[in-house]
Amino acid sequence: MKAVVWHGIGDIRLDEVPEPSLQDPHDAIVRITRSAICGTDLHLVRGTMPGMQEGTVLGHEAVGIVTAVGDSVRGFSPGDRVLINSTISCGACRYCRMGRTAQCDVANPNGPQAGTSFFGGPAMTGQVDGLQAEYARIPWAENTMHPLPDNVSDEQAILLSDIFPTGWFGAELAGVRRGDIVVVFGAGIVGQFAAASAFKQGAGRVIVVDGEETRLAAALAQNCEIVNYNTEDPVQAIMDLTNGIGADAVIDAVGVDAERPKQGPAAVSPDEGAKFDGEVQQIAPDAAPQDGQWKPGDGPSQVARWAVEVVAKCGRIGIIGVYSPTVETYPIGKAMNKNLTVRMGNCDHHSVTPPLIDMVAAGQFDPTALITEHEPIGSAIGAYEAFDRREAGWIKVELAPLGS
Ligand SMILES: NC(=O)c1ccc[n+]([C@@H]2O[C@H](COP(=O)([O-])OP(=O)(O)OC[C@H]3O[C@@H](n4cnc5c(N)ncnc54)[C@H](O)[C@@H]3O)[C@@H](O)[C@H]2O)c1
Ligand SMILES: [Zn+2]
Ligand SMILES: [Zn+2]
Repeated sequence: MKAVVWHGIGDIRLDEVPEPSLQDPHDAIVRITRSAICGTDLHLVRGTMPGMQEGTVLGHEAVGIVTAVGDSVRGFSPGDRVLINSTISCGACRYCRMGRTAQCDVANPNGPQAGTSFFGGPAMTGQVDGLQAEYARIPWAENTMHPLPDNVSDEQAILLSDIFPTGWFGAELAGVRRGDIVVVFGAGIVGQFAAASAFKQGAGRVIVVDGEETRLAAALAQNCEIVNYNTEDPVQAIMDLTNGIGADAVIDAVGVDAERPKQGPAAVSPDEGAKFDGEVQQIAPDAAPQDGQWKPGDGPSQVARWAVEVVAKCGRIGIIGVYSPTVETYPIGKAMNKNLTVRMGNCDHHSVTPPLIDMVAAGQFDPTALITEHEPIGSAIGAYEAFDRREAGWIKVELAPLGS
């Protein structure tokens, strides 16, 4: 079968690989009918999330049809149409029972302290082959899949695999309350869904910050107030928009590949630039950008710093943008001295997603408008490259199987 395979930093290929088979009684095999490329995949190819093993199939967002189940999978049968959670969870351990499925004690073969296990990730996450393929093996299938109602299309469902639940989870981490002014850093697909979720959780106003005009335009289309950090100083702009108080809640939907402003009043000084260069060197020593492609973000702690500055005293920050375990820079002193609450983490997909499936099925929210690119998996490598370069309009790429 065809699959997108990680060979090295800056080197991914569409390869012919063997079809997966059941390896454990808790496994299922799923024929993938839609997959997608995520900002998390870009960290893996840019080298800002280290530890990838050559030969790993990429991708952690998919919808499909079950073709086989192991003996211990009691709730699903071949032929079921399913949503696959990005993160893998057993459903029986202490954490799964608390709904904290991203911290499942069992799913990560590296042991309970190894952290979240997800498809198509580095060795430390379990090195489970990913979902940008024709077929995939789903470990702990009973808890890692959800049944899909017939009135939710594949195109609607693909964003329920990771993006919508992560955005919702981000708004929950930031403790969004009725009437809040919420700032979302990042107008990528995760930021868009964090903004939509903040409104649904009661936010009075949502301000979205990014440096890419087409992405900001998509946020404006959702009636967010937008700030371009290359033309305005976002800290000043947000203070002006909040009577000098700052935001009640902030969501970081950017993570480690944050960029520094390149122009405008927020452009960084040579000293600040040198600090960022040092961070990039520490986080991504093996990065190998070629002609502007696969370039790590050049301001890794930029969003962490801005978030602490734009939030009100005693405010709340939710971090869903991914930072790898090797990242060590955070403005803890400023956060401490403002009495902030900072919560963060990988989305607990299995427990967060069911009401969101219902919301989509009921027609209360249509996620498809934000899928801007529809590509066959045969064109996946070119699609990855265009998405990495943040080509105008490329907010989210879904991949359809060959021959569909
Ligand atoms: N916690 C989770 O469970 C989870 C799940 C999915 C994705 N993620 C993470 O969410 C983040 C966003 O994912 P995505 O798919 O939207 O990625 P993306 O790369 O499409 O979007 C990131 C956006 O951030 C913007 N940006 C860069 N520097 C910025 C800055 N200084 N200020 C404001 N905006 C800035 C970019 O222009 C881009 O629009 C990634 O880090 C991804 O790994 C986390
Ligand atoms: Zn994702
Ligand atoms: Zn578990």
